[in-house]
Amino acid sequence: MSLSDRKIDPAAASRSFDTVKVALGERSYDIVIGSGASADIGTHLRPILRRPRLTIVTDETVYRLHGETLNAALDVAKIDHREIVLPPGEGTKDWTHLEVLTDRLLDAKVERGDIVAAFGGGVVGDLVGFAASILRRGVDFVQIPTTLLAQVDSSVGGKTAINTRHGKNLVGAFHQPRLVLADIDFLQTLPEREYLAGYAEVVKYGLIDDAPFFDWLDANREALAKRDPAALQYAVTVSCKAKARIVAADEREEGVRALLNLGHTFGHALEAETGYSDKLLHGEGISIGLVLAFDLSVQLGICPAEDAARVRAHLSALGMHTSPRDAGVSDVAALIDHMKQDKKVKDDVVTFILARGIGKSFISRDVKLDQVEALLSAALAG
Ligand SMILES: NC(=O)c1ccc[n+]([C@@H]2O[C@H](COP(=O)([O-])OP(=O)(O)OC[C@H]3O[C@@H](n4cnc5c(N)ncnc54)[C@H](O)[C@@H]3O)[C@@H](O)[C@H]2O)c1
Repeated sequence: MSLSDRKIDPAAASRSFDTVKVALGERSYDIVIGSGASADIGTHLRPILRRPRLTIVTDETVYRLHGETLNAALDVAKIDHREIVLPPGEGTKDWTHLEVLTDRLLDAKVERGDIVAAFGGGVVGDLVGFAASILRRGVDFVQIPTTLLAQVDSSVGGKTAINTRHGKNLVGAFHQPRLVLADIDFLQTLPEREYLAGYAEVVKYGLIDDAPFFDWLDANREALAKRDPAALQYAVTVSCKAKARIVAADEREEGVRALLNLGHTFGHALEAETGYSDKLLHGEGISIGLVLAFDLSVQLGICPAEDAARVRAHLSALGMHTSPRDAGVSDVAALIDHMKQDKKVKDDVVTFILARGIGKSFISRDVKLDQVEALLSAALAG
């Protein structure tokens, strides 16, 4: 029986945690997933802590909502802890906050052999991971992700980065965490928009290579919309398994890891066109990108139209974005220009993740920009 065939048992899910291993030799680590997993932090941290001391980096929102829960669990585990609280939002992933953070970590006397915890969404995770990679030439860190996007994507795989005036995620390092602790309960306080943006990445895993998982998501749409804990635990676990498998096969994105970019070429162009602002969250861009990647595959004659229709129907039933118009974008030429800036474009040919159907995605290196332009023009005319 595949994981996707498993029936949800809410009682069982609330009692037990799932553990997914990221197999990277001596840099392997566990992702522990479940309701209340943070209460168990001592059990998971003890084996990797050299001394009972943890420096937690978080943002103001996460600290206000969930700081007490984590602190109480650390107190019970008799792990000494201190917090560094940063402002929330993408603006924190910059040089200024990297400097502030590294200074404060040094003020807190974080030494090699100590562990720093990134407690928050992808912004905190990316910034803290990068700071940990350079502090004293590298200290260990753990991820305690609190957004759906961070639990299923950014906390796993070791990509860390900050943004610069040249663009997003341009300065960073590969630095794997020692542990990821994904407490499903944290997701209950996420604003709906953030929740749905993270959900786009969950759907992506079904579309890449796991059609039964997409079927399961479709069948459990209402439970997922209501953030049913058992449904969430299962969805996060399957997503983490998929990401762990791809990262283990290709840690530095030299091959198959590019499949994780399904929907991203469109998504990044849309994010650039909306100025990386609140007008369009990353996951909202990915939701539109997934639909466009399937539509492009249909246009190229390699994907059944019914599959593209199912993707669109699933996302729109949850109230997610499915068209560039949902992001207020209508300038095809501008989107094509953004794609041309992308390092994936060479001689007007762009590396794209296409699909032969749901769960059948592949890396294509022969999509021409004029084919993309035709698709976008049709999408915006229709
Ligand atoms: N490293 C990677 O592999 C990778 C992958 C995808 C995305 N990313 C990065 O992740 C970032 C986006 O991450 P994100 O979507 O988690 O954004 P985020 O970290 O900005 O979090 C979104 C908002 O939700 C708030 N929040 C966090 N947890 C909450 C909770 N439990 N309840 C209520 N509010 C909560 C935060 O304070 C913030 O305001 C981007 O910078 C992107 O580049 C990195």
